[in-house]
Amino acid sequence: MFNNKVVIITGSTQGIGLKTAELLAQRGALLIINSRRPEKVQAALAYLKQYTQHVAGLAGDVSDIAFCEELNEFAVQQFGRIDILINNAGIAAGGIMMESRAEAFKKVIDINLLGCVYPTLACLPELCKRQGAVLFIGSVAGIAGLPSYSAYAASKRALSSLAESLRSELLDAGVFVGIHYPGFTENESDKTIMNARGEFEILKKREGVKAMSREQTALNIIKQLEHKKFRMFSSVSAWAVYTSYRLFPNLFVWLLGRYRKKIMSMQ
Ligand SMILES: NC(=O)c1ccc[n+]([C@@H]2O[C@H](COP(=O)([O-])OP(=O)(O)OC[C@H]3O[C@@H](n4cnc5c(N)ncnc54)[C@H](OP(=O)(O)O)[C@@H]3O)[C@@H](O)[C@H]2O)c1
Repeated sequence: MFNNKVVIITGSTQGIGLKTAELLAQRGALLIINSRRPEKVQAALAYLKQYTQHVAGLAGDVSDIAFCEELNEFAVQQFGRIDILINNAGIAAGGIMMESRAEAFKKVIDINLLGCVYPTLACLPELCKRQGAVLFIGSVAGIAGLPSYSAYAASKRALSSLAESLRSELLDAGVFVGIHYPGFTENESDKTIMNARGEFEILKKREGVKAMSREQTALNIIKQLEHKKFRMFSSVSAWAVYTSYRLFPNLFVWLLGRYRKKIMSMQ
């Protein structure tokens, strides 16, 4: 299914994005990888070349539409087409609304929401030519707005609506659109989280929460693309949050309030 398919994965120089690139390389995909830091792109290219020679990378910020247009052109120059776009780039962000700086909030929306909108806008004409696929990487935090994650939750929740609109719009064009909700996934040791003031801190290990491996999450992303499933949850807990929120929204919001201190301490 992925053999000779051209796949762009944004934010793919570490974490879930890099592992997804590795597993797709093993399945014969032609890969375009990306993140903002050129040295990370070079390191990821060197790593992926163990698995494939058909990989190229472009450093740049997906919250910049001009860069996303460049990324689209780069992919077409490299491989002549684009079959799949995985909008994976994102930043973790926490902190209560009362302490949020406007520019910090905006940065989260710019990267996590517009950083998925812009690559999609740039690549859609190519994806339509190939009847390709667009996958958004959401988050459980975007199913129901968790306390202490207002900007992150808002950015990820917006992706669900975006994916729903786009799915209907592209049915006639034959382009698959999906959204994946990873559960807690093992973080890179240097993964950062932005606080309400816009400063980046190393993300603390989440005590008492069993994280999925990056491989498990990446395998689920691949499975979703294979089965063209619109919505997929990487973990049972992510599915349970979605289902209970849909069935009992008021009870769910009440529980969020009741356990707010515990949730906020998990940051
Ligand atoms: N890990 C989890 O438990 C979890 C749970 C739910 C959802 N998710 C979502 O899954 C995705 C991947 O998470 P992860 O844990 O693998 O994150 P990660 O380890 O922090 O990796 C994020 C990647 O995105 C890149 N990136 C960040 N901002 C970018 C931008 N503006 N333009 C281009 N690249 C950018 C980063 O590299 P540079 O810094 O060099 O740009 C890095 O390669 C994210 O969307 C995240 O919200 C993760």
